[in-house]
Amino acid sequence: MRKIIIDTDPGQDDALALMTAFGARRELQVLGVTCVAGNVPLDLTSLNALKICELSGCSDIPVYKGSAAPLKRKLVTAEHVHGKTGLDGTDLQVKKKEVEVTNAVDFIIQCIEKYRDEKITICALGPLTNLAKVLKKNPSVTESIEEIVLMGGGFFEGGNITPAAEFNIYVDPEAAKIVLKSGVKITMLPLDVTHKTLVPRDFLQKLRRSGKNSALEAAKLLDFFERYDVEKYGSKGGPLHDPNVIVYLLNPEIYNGKLVNVEIEVKSELTSGMTVVDWWNVTSRKPNVYYINDVNEDEFFNIVLSKVLNLEI
Ligand code: RIB
Ligand code: CA
Repeated sequence: MRKIIIDTDPGQDDALALMTAFGARRELQVLGVTCVAGNVPLDLTSLNALKICELSGCSDIPVYKGSAAPLKRKLVTAEHVHGKTGLDGTDLQVKKKEVEVTNAVDFIIQCIEKYRDEKITICALGPLTNLAKVLKKNPSVTESIEEIVLMGGGFFEGGNITPAAEFNIYVDPEAAKIVLKSGVKITMLPLDVTHKTLVPRDFLQKLRRSGKNSALEAAKLLDFFERYDVEKYGSKGGPLHDPNVIVYLLNPEIYNGKLVNVEIEVKSELTSGMTVVDWWNVTSRKPNVYYINDVNEDEFFNIVLSKVLNLEI
């Protein structure tokens, strides 16, 4: 069983990623959920993580609060996509669960040290501020991290928050630069692949037909989440970004990519947060990322559905 930490800024697509991971009990042990400001401010992303843990019947999984702002920049949020609460589309309330006292950055460091021999995988679904702080505070952790699998970036698909940059990288490009230069094994699931996982029309029906409360709420979340992207891209369904990180861990064989060099633009105002991908190997820069640009989307949605329906409530 693979030990993972999920670093996230829930958001509806983060919620589906969490539910997919929680439903993969045989394959994944979620050691903790660490929250970062991104889609909405930290108080809301951490509250939303609590809500999704309770919704999924996983109140035993600890939730930690991390960074309320990027390393150097002013926080940019995405209420226009996710709504004011970050989980618009549902009216979930937290019943009992609370965030842990330990800060997310300290929890990640403690976990890495505790499982130094087995090594853990970090799944990053939001801005990389927490991970950058872990690497700055304790650089030696790089030898004990199995892999960082992150949703972020874009090259052939351009950007979604500016013409050049994808949101997670754009919010904290300095943090992304630290993570990509860390030497840790990194797998990146950018817009080039997540724009291929567009929610099919019958997917929400399949969730609703299950009659399970968690699946019903997931359908409401997606109903709200995709309205913005369907309008923006004129597609039949919205791109389901973050669950790609979890599905990659479960079934890497349905994905395709290439080991390339990826650098982050941190100086230019026009292209700040751009992931500059040396796809054709035209520089002598060292490859540092397994950059994924293709997926079997039918398989992807089958896996997300089966894991979400695997939740007990
Ligand atoms: O650009 C998409 C990413 O930004 C997703 O992780 C979404 O949740 C937002 O955080
Ligand atoms: Ca996210």
